[in-house]
Amino acid sequence: MNPDRTIRNLALIGFMGTGKSTVGHAAAYHLGFDFVDTDRLIEARAHKSVADIFAQDGEEVFRELERQVVEDLAQCDRTVIATGGGLGANLDHLVSLKRHALVVCLWTTADVIWERVRHHSHRPLLRVPNPRAHIRELLARREPFYRQADVLVNTGPRRLRDVICHVLREFASARRSARRR
Ligand code: S3P
Repeated sequence: MNPDRTIRNLALIGFMGTGKSTVGHAAAYHLGFDFVDTDRLIEARAHKSVADIFAQDGEEVFRELERQVVEDLAQCDRTVIATGGGLGANLDHLVSLKRHALVVCLWTTADVIWERVRHHSHRPLLRVPNPRAHIRELLARREPFYRQADVLVNTGPRRLRDVICHVLREFASARRSARRR
């Protein structure tokens, strides 16, 4: 870890269904940090659900709201930030998050993701004729961005508890070697 990094927060990025919110909540509890979920922040600002933003205003409007939220996250302190799946697939957003947070990517395969999300109908990007193929394609397109996280955690073979412990260990070690401001 670059000693010039400032690590006040922990940001979780990764594809839909990788457990960012669940792991984020648990990590925040263990650290005594606040917890924010970027999708919930966007919904509170837009006064509608992510699904409605996509349906009524389009993805571009959602991405603009996401951009504004990323900017505002720089004000966070002692916060675990769970991000929407597309947020960490944007280089500007990654650079911005790394200014104040350790960026951890939760990773798993397209098949595992499909098994986890197939019965959830609230995700607008999966309302397509062949969601399984779409996951594979989108994951491949996003992988080069996700790989730029500070830490990549393969959640597939791990139990939830082990993922949380692993993330907490990585965070503690990064905070030890980075400057704490
Ligand atoms: C998206 C993932 C969703 C949500 C939106 C777009 C994406 O969040 O932000 O539907 O582009 O992958 P989750 O990763 O929490 O499902």
